[in-house]
Amino acid sequence: MRLTIEKEWIMQRTIQNELTEITNRGLLRSTRTISGRQADRVMCNGHEVLLLCSNNYLGLADHPVLAAASIAAIQRYGTSSGASRLVSGTMDLHEGLERTVASFKKTEAALVFNSGHAANTGIIPALVGRGDIVFSDRLNHASIVDGILLSGARLVRYPHNDHRALAALMEKHAGGEGSGRCLIVSDGVFSMDGDIAPLAELVECKRTFGALLMVDDAHGCGVLGAEGRGSAELLGVGGGVDVQMGTFGKALGSFGAYAAVSAELRELLINRARSFIFSTSLPPAVLAASRAAVELVQGEEGDRLREQLSGNAAFFRSGLAAAGFSIPDGSTQIVPILVGSAGSTMQFSEALLAEGIFAQGIRPPTVPVGTSRLRFTLMATHTRTDLADAISTICRIGRRLGVI
Ligand SMILES: Cc1ncc(COP(=O)(O)O)c(C=O)c1O
Repeated sequence: MRLTIEKEWIMQRTIQNELTEITNRGLLRSTRTISGRQADRVMCNGHEVLLLCSNNYLGLADHPVLAAASIAAIQRYGTSSGASRLVSGTMDLHEGLERTVASFKKTEAALVFNSGHAANTGIIPALVGRGDIVFSDRLNHASIVDGILLSGARLVRYPHNDHRALAALMEKHAGGEGSGRCLIVSDGVFSMDGDIAPLAELVECKRTFGALLMVDDAHGCGVLGAEGRGSAELLGVGGGVDVQMGTFGKALGSFGAYAAVSAELRELLINRARSFIFSTSLPPAVLAASRAAVELVQGEEGDRLREQLSGNAAFFRSGLAAAGFSIPDGSTQIVPILVGSAGSTMQFSEALLAEGIFAQGIRPPTVPVGTSRLRFTLMATHTRTDLADAISTICRIGRRLGVI
């Protein structure tokens, strides 16, 4: 009994020590509560603020067409799928969404996952394992890294967007005697930098070295390319990418993810992807909203929203660049400004919130040490007046804090 109390005490102290250490490094994270709808202006901790850090790029998260589809699905199908896909949790709604995604992405087939994180941690270990190699961009999303670690394959990281370095690393490591499968994996649009991967060159590397190529288009789907099919379509290489993964929780205003693949790969994923096999499948309301979103982004409204979004992004990016902020190269709706230290970044974010602008600071381990940043994300529904006001507030605070 005494031992148990001592153990508990030791455990509590180590947890406290860990939290103190995180705090002392300026890396303590906490949540901010939004009440009401996810729109361009939201209520955050009781105050109305301009939302500049949401991935609801096209403003679909409170779109009436998606809401109506969800409500109708609940009325007809209820609230839960009741089981994992391989037990009794495959509804006609899952398969309908998969057919819609495959037709949207122009692939033979598609498979729906419960989230982008679940997709990456399910797909990668299904494709590679011990004895195989994954070539991964240094700035790939954490869920890709988690998937690689889970797979047990060897991880070879290549410098960000550097296809020549990738080719050299593949020459050195791939195709040796007795070596297994090789997988190249990259974000399509990099989540914290907002630049686009050189997909044509990655396809060339994949072909030269007989590898598989997977692209995580969480931030490109719905936004880039004709009809919003994503980065692979924008760069004209859809057919060269073996796995096009994308998410429904960002521009598509819903929740979950998909892998757009060949029929053969879909079958492999059904049999090998543990996050697909061992988890209750997505519920009717989510599936119906996702399908409505995929249909909507291919139509005229999708074109109009994409045009508004890219106009807003260009306006905001050029306004901050002209003021002297350091912004990584890019042209998408993700516009980060580099601040440097974690402490100054959070100070900047707090000062903006006090003036009615919600922009989250991004710190290690999400980004490399010394590159903490404010990551602004634009929405099609932002007004130019709000954005112009935000630029001048950001500049005023940036000057005061010595960032510019
Ligand atoms: C590039 C990338 N991949 C995957 C994910 C995970 O997607 P989800 O939020 O659906 O789990 C994210 C989400 O932030 C992301 O930015």
